[in-house]
Amino acid sequence: MVFLNLVTNAVEALDEKDEDDEKRITVTLEKSESNNVLEVTDNGPGISEQMRKNLFKEFETGKTRGMGIGLYTCSLIVNSHGGDITYDTRIGLGTTFRVRFPDQYARRKEPYDAPQNFGSR
Ligand SMILES: Nc1ncnc2c1ncn2[C@@H]1O[C@H](COP(=O)(O)OP(=O)(O)OP(=O)(O)O)[C@@H](O)[C@H]1O
Ligand SMILES: [Mg+2]
Repeated sequence: MVFLNLVTNAVEALDEKDEDDEKRITVTLEKSESNNVLEVTDNGPGISEQMRKNLFKEFETGKTRGMGIGLYTCSLIVNSHGGDITYDTRIGLGTTFRVRFPDQYARRKEPYDAPQNFGSR
């Protein structure tokens, strides 16, 4: 859901570009010892200063057909998992959304045991 909304936002942002401009979305997932970091970068128009003020609030949208619940829901989900969501945007150049969430196994005291019968019938 979080991933889907970020990619959908990126695609919709790129729709604003001219037909023959290069449109690029990059997705990376990086795993460190205790965190997973998902990044979705587009080379769209960027997010205006006005829009940034309430970006994560519900019903905040810059689109005629948008509901404005995407980023709001994203932040609820990510926060409830102990992660956070940040962004970096440059007008005319593009936007990166970065979702950090703790590795679900990193907080366990015991190492994660795969089920012993995994793969057998
Ligand atoms: N990658 C992006 N590039 C440019 N603007 C963005 C980007 N992501 C979000 N925005 C701006 O932030 C607004 C809020 O995004 P959000 O996902 O919360 O709502 P929405 O996409 O408008 O509607 P919904 O997700 O409910 O369909 C968007 O309307 C858009 O103006
Ligand atoms: Mg959206």
